[in-house]
Amino acid sequence: MESSSLAIRAVHTLEDLQKVLNLECQVWGTDEPVPVSLLRVFAEDGGLVLLAELAGESQPVGMAVSFPGWRLDRWYLHSHMLAVLPQFRRHAVGRALKHYQLNYARSHQLAYVGWTFDPLQAKNALFNLNVLGARATAFYDNFYGVLGDAINGAFPSHRLFVEWDGQPLASGSGRYLALPKDIDSVRQNHPDKALWWAERYRQKLERLMAQGYIAVDVVVKRGRTFYRLQRVKEGRSL
Ligand SMILES: CC(C)(COP(=O)(O)OP(=O)(O)OC[C@H]1O[C@@H](n2cnc3c(N)ncnc32)[C@H](O)[C@@H]1OP(=O)(O)O)[C@@H](O)C(=O)NCCC(=O)NCCS
Repeated sequence: MESSSLAIRAVHTLEDLQKVLNLECQVWGTDEPVPVSLLRVFAEDGGLVLLAELAGESQPVGMAVSFPGWRLDRWYLHSHMLAVLPQFRRHAVGRALKHYQLNYARSHQLAYVGWTFDPLQAKNALFNLNVLGARATAFYDNFYGVLGDAINGAFPSHRLFVEWDGQPLASGSGRYLALPKDIDSVRQNHPDKALWWAERYRQKLERLMAQGYIAVDVVVKRGRTFYRLQRVKEGRSL
């Protein structure tokens, strides 16, 4: 895929917003998508709704939905959804959408781009922490409730909140937390084990983050993948 054939576009019309909703349904298999009426509000009133399009493809291949959020005394751009169709993944479409959000945040006096992700999804951890260089600064217990869609299933939606301002973080030693190899398959085939992982992560991340640790990247040691967490000064991390 030629990167020159990719275009990221901020969208506003009902027709384009319907394409965003279609992508949400395709990727998450949800029957409760964010409605077009709300996407329209985000698009018109300070938020940013994006489509990623490839030359030669009749439909968009990716999308991102974000709006301004307020957290710990600062305005930031909250990215609620990011998705690329499975057959177009790993061609840098996701990171192009995120960089568009970062530029938007910078040009609208928003301190950083923030979003939540499932800490048990190693692929998302790699994308967020290693590819982008975001850092996970908070843990939320069952943040959205049980979502019941194709990706999240019937498990509690524990989430890490990440902050990304595009600035590198000085590295150092820290604590490590092992990631499951493939949580999707564990959730499908061994629901008891998946619940065990959810509870283990809840306990470990709540404790470490209460002690001032943030997750800074993902490392592979002897074939296993781990979060690396570093202690930061009290208060704000960025
Ligand atoms: C997350 C998502 C948007 C990334 O889109 P993308 O276009 O594939 O992103 P990029 O190509 O820019 O980067 C993908 C990175 O994710 C990681 N990754 C993705 N799949 C991976 C896999 N199977 N194994 C290892 N790493 C993987 C890698 O770090 C990869 O970078 P690399 O290709 O340079 O190794 C896409 O996977 C997606 O739509 N997922 C489902 C929806 C979702 O989980 N959204 C929330 C994201 S927080």
